[in-house]
Amino acid sequence: MMACAGHDASTMLKPEILDSFRQLLDEAAASGDREPTAMNLATADAAGRVSSRIVLLKGVDERGFRFFTNYQSDKGAQLEAHPQVALCLHWKQLRDGVQVRVEGVARKLLEEESDAYFASRARGSQIGAWASLQSQTLPDRDTFEQRVARCEQEYEGREVPRPAHWGGFVVEPDMVEFWYGAQYRLHDRVRWSRHGQTWTHRLLYP
Ligand SMILES: Cc1cc2nc3c(=O)[nH]c(=O)nc-3n(C[C@H](O)[C@H](O)[C@H](O)COP(=O)(O)O)c2cc1C
Repeated sequence: MMACAGHDASTMLKPEILDSFRQLLDEAAASGDREPTAMNLATADAAGRVSSRIVLLKGVDERGFRFFTNYQSDKGAQLEAHPQVALCLHWKQLRDGVQVRVEGVARKLLEEESDAYFASRARGSQIGAWASLQSQTLPDRDTFEQRVARCEQEYEGREVPRPAHWGGFVVEPDMVEFWYGAQYRLHDRVRWSRHGQTWTHRLLYP
């Protein structure tokens, strides 16, 4: 069964880690990176087959890293079977290049949290969430455009509600690693690990 979001103080991200991450994200946005919140999300299915794709980071707080998707997509099915995930962000233009790796468990956000985010999206994206059967076979482009047109018609003149199959996850980390590029290969690599409620860090050979 998929883990459901509940507040559990024991998995809280240490403020020091959160501050470092937020500062890097701000710097990455200021560095001219066009998609500073793009992150690779790796999931595995029940048989251990791994797949990965880019999703956008839509929030980070002491609970973890949030993204939104179609719960019925391939990744949604994988997360249902196997909530352990890995995230990876790479900011090429920042300093000498920075990578952040995160591992943990993806938990579904509460419905009201997904509602709030869905309501903040552009109308076109809201329509898209209804029209796209994410990860299913699309016979041709026309079929998709017809679905979009039908959804636009259906919701004309009223708010687009969030589809029940679309919402967020929060990745509650037990590992966060910062990798800082440097000239001549003297990279800095700092790994934070959580054991129970305690976060500790150590350096790793790059
Ligand atoms: C820059 C970028 C941002 C994306 N952001 C998201 C996102 O936030 N959520 C999402 O479900 N898919 C996003 N996608 C699409 C996914 O990479 C992927 O194609 C889709 O989620 C289907 O993946 P799946 O079949 O493994 O479930 C994004 C793709 C790119 C290139």
